[in-house]
Amino acid sequence: MLVEEAILGRRSVKVFDPRPIAPELIERCLDLAVWAPNHKLTEPWRFSVVTQDARTELSWQVYQDLKETNPQMAWVELEAASLKHRRKIHSAPVIIVVYSLQDDDPVRSRENYAATAAAIENLLLAAHSVALGAIWRSGTIFEGDHVRAFLHSPPQSQFVGAVYLGYPAQRDTRRRRTDARAQTYWVPIGKMTEAPPNDLGEVSQ
Ligand SMILES: Cc1cc2nc3c(=O)[nH]c(=O)nc-3n(C[C@H](O)[C@H](O)[C@H](O)COP(=O)(O)O)c2cc1C
Repeated sequence: MLVEEAILGRRSVKVFDPRPIAPELIERCLDLAVWAPNHKLTEPWRFSVVTQDARTELSWQVYQDLKETNPQMAWVELEAASLKHRRKIHSAPVIIVVYSLQDDDPVRSRENYAATAAAIENLLLAAHSVALGAIWRSGTIFEGDHVRAFLHSPPQSQFVGAVYLGYPAQRDTRRRRTDARAQTYWVPIGKMTEAPPNDLGEVSQ
């Protein structure tokens, strides 16, 4: 598949066929995800793959976090919130939760986060290229202590996104994009107001 075709053809998918995905296919997508650019080769991404009945366990851990962090929540409210999450978690046969390693240096942490976001886009495109549908979802449920422990997320890591993955069961949805020209400034050439110091004017090729 051409890159242009993959970029234009990929659209977020929210409705999935429940049939499982072969683990080799998931690994193939992850192998492509990790070719994202990353400064100093920190390879900051960490993936946790949740499939089949592990999704039920994940829902249980979400419930534990909800209960602990909202002690004032009435039982019915807690049940309703947890049901909503359980339905979402079971909406896809596979969820890949992606964390980014953090560093003592905030600049490095920011770069790691950016690299991990690029890895997620690679993952989405790779999934699309093998006829899988996917959506990048955010959400605080992947930041709770119980969930993090269950997913083996490294202690010094930041949640970046959860990729819900499966064979699509919805029609293609076209989404709006503003023309890039409206979001781009071309810096004018040949309009230098002052001579540059020393010999910085010409850069040899
Ligand atoms: C950082 C990030 C977080 C997102 N979180 C959600 C989410 O929680 N729920 C959701 O439905 N879509 C989420 N999306 C997907 C966007 O809604 C989707 O990309 C957007 O509607 C454009 O559609 P397209 O991906 O088909 O082009 C997220 C996307 C990004 C990049």
